Amino acid sequence: MGKKFYITTPIYYVNDVPHLGHAYTTVAADVLARHYRRRGYEVRFLTGTDEHGDKNADAAAKVGLTPQQYVDGRAAEFKQTFEALGVEFRTHNIFMRTTAPFHRSAVDVFMQKLDAAGALYEGDYEGRYCRGCEDFKTEKDLVDGRCPIHKTEPELLREKNWFFRLSVYSGQVKRLIESGELVVAPEGRRNEVLSLLDQELPDFSVTRQRVKWGVPFFKDPSQIVYVWVEALQNYISALGYPNGVDFKEFWPADVHLMAKDILKFHAVYWPAMLLAAGERPPAQVFAHGFFTLNGQKMSKTVGNVIDPRSLVAQYGADATRYLLLSQFPFGNDGDIQADRFTEKYNADLANGLGNLVSRTATLIEQNCDGKVDHTVEPLLSISGVGAAIEALAFDRALDEVFAAIKLGNQLIDRTKPWEKKEESASFLSGLASGLVAIGHALTPFVPTAGAHIVSVFSAELITKQPPLFARK
Ligand code: MSP
Repeated sequence: MGKKFYITTPIYYVNDVPHLGHAYTTVAADVLARHYRRRGYEVRFLTGTDEHGDKNADAAAKVGLTPQQYVDGRAAEFKQTFEALGVEFRTHNIFMRTTAPFHRSAVDVFMQKLDAAGALYEGDYEGRYCRGCEDFKTEKDLVDGRCPIHKTEPELLREKNWFFRLSVYSGQVKRLIESGELVVAPEGRRNEVLSLLDQELPDFSVTRQRVKWGVPFFKDPSQIVYVWVEALQNYISALGYPNGVDFKEFWPADVHLMAKDILKFHAVYWPAMLLAAGERPPAQVFAHGFFTLNGQKMSKTVGNVIDPRSLVAQYGADATRYLLLSQFPFGNDGDIQADRFTEKYNADLANGLGNLVSRTATLIEQNCDGKVDHTVEPLLSISGVGAAIEALAFDRALDEVFAAIKLGNQLIDRTKPWEKKEESASFLSGLASGLVAIGHALTPFVPTAGAHIVSVFSAELITKQPPLFARK
């Protein structure tokens, strides 16, 4: 059996338009998916939309649509946005929607498994609930009685719910994380989850009584399955759980990718539910940082929300992907400096990479009649890129490639091949080989430009190239 790799992003709430945060995680996951595919792995890559719950139903009511009409429209927008960013949904890239009928059936089966295992019980919930987070809140989660993320006062709930016996499974989850069978990364996040598991974690609700927009609970159809519990199951329903071939071949997931805001659900609740249902936990849960935009929190109130499609219109898909992932180390919190995108685009892509490509091609055409010796060793070495991508250190991978690009330009400046036409053939061949390697290394990040560079510099005859990234 060939090597397999399954990577997921969160499925995003559709109560609003797609924004840079969604683009960030999905592009990062697409880089990994492309990398592993190129290495010969069979890959499944899932991204998509989380369409049930109050948050989405409220948004639909506000614009006078039925929830289904509303989520259909928004889901299409998310899909188009990801496509505009170079994510293709033609083959084995899954755009998952939780209103899909197959998801409902899978949720039914999974909930039945939890029930059969004795993991569920009926009780009364009394406490706070934040619709923005779609999460139950305790006093210690709040600041001055408000949700610190949404700045709203969570509503008081008093309703009949079915609960999951987290207390029975949390010890097992902790041991899995400690033994490394379930990797939670980066290290700081792992420690956070372990200290969470050291506390007495309350059992959590798996159903809601008052919410109407969702998947009915098989045991009591007056209740719907709590939106988080249902949404997490998308990772297996998308593979055809319980009997689908893909489920057998691709589960457990290699990486669930997300930001740190939803780590508890992925690193505690989800593995606990899987254990109870008799399924294996994911191999890795990786939480990247949360970013601000030009130094400010992204929010509608601040008015600084950027539609990724407008960036694509301005810079193109490749450059937008690069500009997003090259800002700060992937696992860290950071700032996306969108107001400096043009500067960075010109420096790195137009003047750096674009210039190296066009200078090298022009010199080869002028000095060598377009011919190079493809057996010459690359002058530019970028041997650590694959390992950096696999460690999700995208910034490190890009730093290495761009250091090589800088070196290439410096070598041309120093060697001055235009002054010694006859002696420059082997130097230019070495540069061309280096550019083939650079093209390969960059392909997961900038798929169109990467493939173009590879094809230009591995060709029989190398011709003068127009600018790859026109200056802005
Ligand atoms: N619907 C849930 C996820 C269910 S998964 C079974 C949800 N949706 S969300 O629309 O709120 O998306 C949250 C995710 O969006 C984050 O975990 C992250 O992947 C991405 N981001 C949103 N804003 C972001 C930043 N400002 N910074 C980094 N990532 C961002 O939670």
